[in-house]
Amino acid sequence: MQFGEMFRCLLFFSMLIHSSFAQKLSEGSGTSDAPSKKWLTLNGNEPLVIARGGFSGLFPDSSEFAVDMAMTSSMGDVVLYCDLQLTKDGLGVCQPDVRLDNTTNIAMVYPQGEKTYKVNGQDLKGWFTVDYTSDELFNNVTLVQNVLSRPSLFDGALSIQSVDDIVGRKSVKLLWLNVQYDGFYNEHKHSPASYVQKVVRYYPLDYLSSPEIGFLKAMQGKVNKARTKLIFRFLATDAVEPSTKQTYGSILKDLESIKSFASGILVPKEYILPVGTNKYLEAPTSLVADAHKLGLEVYASGFANDYPASFNYSYDPTSEYLQFIDNSEFSVDGVLTDFPPTASETIACFTQNNNASKPVKGKALIISHNGASGNYPGCTDLAYQQAIDDGADIIDCSVQMSKDGVAFCLDSADLSGDTTAMPTFMSRSIVIPEIQQDSGIFSFDLTWSEIQSLKPQLVSPFGSDVGFLRDPANKNKGKFVTLSEFLELAKSKAVSGVLINIENAAYLASKKGLGIVDAVSKALSNATFDKQSTQQVLIQSDDSSVLSQFKNVSTYKRVLTIEEKISDAPKQPVEEIKKYADAVTITRPSIMPISNSFLMGNTSVLDEMHAANISVYLSVLRNEYISLAFDYFADPILELATYVAGFGVDGIITEYPATANKYMRSPCFDLNAEQAILPVQPGSLVSIIQGAEPPAEAPAPILEVADIVDPPLPPVAVDLSVNSPPAPAPDAKDSSALKIVADLGLSLAAVGALNLLF
Ligand SMILES: *[C@@H]1O[C@H](CO)[C@@H](O)[C@H](O)[C@H]1NC(C)=O
Ligand SMILES: *[C@@H]1O[C@H](CO)[C@@H](O)[C@H](O)[C@H]1NC(C)=O
Ligand SMILES: *[C@@H]1O[C@H](CO)[C@@H](O)[C@H](O)[C@H]1NC(C)=O
Ligand SMILES: *[C@@H]1O[C@H](CO)[C@@H](O)[C@H](O)[C@H]1NC(C)=O
Ligand SMILES: *[C@@H]1O[C@H](CO)[C@@H](O)[C@H](O)[C@H]1NC(C)=O
Ligand SMILES: *[C@@H]1O[C@H](CO)[C@@H](O)[C@H](O)[C@H]1NC(C)=O
Ligand SMILES: *[C@@H]1O[C@H](CO)[C@@H](O)[C@H](O)[C@H]1NC(C)=O
Ligand SMILES: *[C@@H]1O[C@H](CO)[C@@H](O)[C@H](O)[C@H]1NC(C)=O
Repeated sequence: MQFGEMFRCLLFFSMLIHSSFAQKLSEGSGTSDAPSKKWLTLNGNEPLVIARGGFSGLFPDSSEFAVDMAMTSSMGDVVLYCDLQLTKDGLGVCQPDVRLDNTTNIAMVYPQGEKTYKVNGQDLKGWFTVDYTSDELFNNVTLVQNVLSRPSLFDGALSIQSVDDIVGRKSVKLLWLNVQYDGFYNEHKHSPASYVQKVVRYYPLDYLSSPEIGFLKAMQGKVNKARTKLIFRFLATDAVEPSTKQTYGSILKDLESIKSFASGILVPKEYILPVGTNKYLEAPTSLVADAHKLGLEVYASGFANDYPASFNYSYDPTSEYLQFIDNSEFSVDGVLTDFPPTASETIACFTQNNNASKPVKGKALIISHNGASGNYPGCTDLAYQQAIDDGADIIDCSVQMSKDGVAFCLDSADLSGDTTAMPTFMSRSIVIPEIQQDSGIFSFDLTWSEIQSLKPQLVSPFGSDVGFLRDPANKNKGKFVTLSEFLELAKSKAVSGVLINIENAAYLASKKGLGIVDAVSKALSNATFDKQSTQQVLIQSDDSSVLSQFKNVSTYKRVLTIEEKISDAPKQPVEEIKKYADAVTITRPSIMPISNSFLMGNTSVLDEMHAANISVYLSVLRNEYISLAFDYFADPILELATYVAGFGVDGIITEYPATANKYMRSPCFDLNAEQAILPVQPGSLVSIIQGAEPPAEAPAPILEVADIVDPPLPPVAVDLSVNSPPAPAPDAKDSSALKIVADLGLSLAAVGALNLLF
């Protein structure tokens, strides 16, 4: 097979995505108009971004795609990190392990090739590079993605790269070689030391690291130390260093001794910021300060957007980098990461320039979704307070009714997900097909005092695996909030506006005798929202008849929810929308269809709405990487940039307002700025490899007039005795994770695989 054919688009792709970024940067770096930041690194320079195996978070480790993309999609310089392995004929290749079984298809090509060797005293089984000549590897073996949460689309299209190949690539400017297994190769009559000496004769090597002290000592006289920095790599604290037979933990206690053979150390990030077994960050160690005092540089390893390290980061990978490079005490000298674009974005855009008071032009409205429900149980006092603190422009209340007519805020009329109703009121669980398929415990069947006896509950829409949990410390924190309390809070905190969401109005009126429209109108008037225009009021509903009821207050902006994904919004239905609404809330696939977690292009829905002067709000954005298409590099900020700066949506509805605010207030929000976060081009990632695109899904339906026009609201029933008793409930089951899956277009198998990862 000729691999060359498949590479056609890579360069094209990276130019589409980030070239102006890279270009602007190289023009701007070091020039006087960029305010120079002060860093607490050893030499005061910006921390380094070190790309482990290139952009291995997206492409197979150390493949040419991974290498080129690491460089072209990052802001600023990136050091390419290559794990050196040697072949039977002594050639150096970049691969993360002495064995190739997880990162290539070698087991298929050489089914008899499995061997067992002792590596550092341990028996390891697998397909070892030392058993194959470079010809055997280059001609027959292809690379595969070895992490389940990353795309397998590029498997089979790329071959193993020699160190020569890698250093010859135009994109590679700075090189870091790691020699992890010097002892093992020497036992097999290969010398990594001689190989490295050959490399440095032809190519400037910037960093050389190893966890073996003997190797580093031997290299001292063999490389020019002014040119090549020697770095001692620490492994797990209880692992034994082969040349001294001491544990890395005990070597750590004598940093001074390292100075004699290395100019810096590379440590697992937990050496600097320990994470408890409960996944919360503990106080930082003094390692960076101690090492810097001795003149040793400190590099931290183990960064990956799709391995959320701690609840403290709220699934925002830039928050993690900030802890290491932008705290008031220290900065590491570099981060070794599988996702170099995110590390470089953090350094360029989010450090030392937070300015919450800065007015921002062209920004979309940040609308909370059940408050800051990524951090606190949705719709509680704490979730709203957090959303306000995090910079939400609009806080939202989905109004629900209690049996005795109290209007309060909660995501769903079904209390079984967001509260502790499930054990207590299990006997009240029923099926109401007009509201949802699954059985539920509904707010309108419980009195307000019964509801107040419950606790709110923070649940992740991605299930209960620890890898997707939301802050367990906040699981049952906060109080339920009535609609009036919500409005009072909004007034007293002077937020820019409120969004009131109304569902099930017809059912509540005819079957439960509850007038939700009236309750909302009254609460708004009582809080004088109908007599002012300083704070915006958005009334949102999926029911056009509900929106009609609010036409009488001209300052209210009416928002129609279009929950189903649509592929087109022709003129006629759009004109119909204008009769009821000033804005629509649509879901992500209505702007960019998704297949197998890849963006497949764009629809014209947004343009069609804008042409009719209808604002478009996008729902729902979340930080968790599992909710992001691969095109966003597991970075929620790239998704924001794509919808806000790329498409120009008028508002985003998010469970993590802090992340949206961080992005929109960063200097990189402005596409004309020296360094800008560019939107992703939908469809370009999937088209890199011709013929490998996943099958396109059937297009979503086209919006029709009939989808918009709802029957008039029935009057609020007074005599409810005619209603028959509700149907008994089948077994309750959690469907929220499945809804997300459908929204994203992920296959269930993919989700199952992801769940296994954690
Ligand atoms: C390959 O993957 C398996 C399963 O994840 C893991 O146990 C093993 O250590 C990996 N081997 C290598 C060589 O990385
Ligand atoms: C490896 O590739 C070479 C040349 O392309 C071919 O002759 C040989 O049969 C292949 N070996 C295996 C085991 O596939
Ligand atoms: C991490 O979160 C926990 C629980 O909220 C908190 O106690 C701790 O102080 C946080 N740590 C850091 C470094 O922010
Ligand atoms: C923040 O922005 C405001 C308004 O533009 C400006 O007056 C202030 O100096 C800025 N503060 C910093 C620290 O940049
Ligand atoms: C009206 O507003 C007051 C506070 O301004 C509040 O205490 C009261 O509960 C509200 N009444 C209704 C029916 O919303
Ligand atoms: C607007 O209409 C609603 C629903 O018909 C009604 O409850 C409300 O009192 C009206 N508001 C004003 C200010 O007229
Ligand atoms: C669009 O709406 C704005 C304000 O809502 C209004 O000023 C403008 O005239 C409208 N334009 C069209 C073409 O309807
Ligand atoms: C959407 O796609 C059309 C072509 O299909 C293109 O012209 C337009 O620029 C795209 N819009 C965005 C924001 O990518």
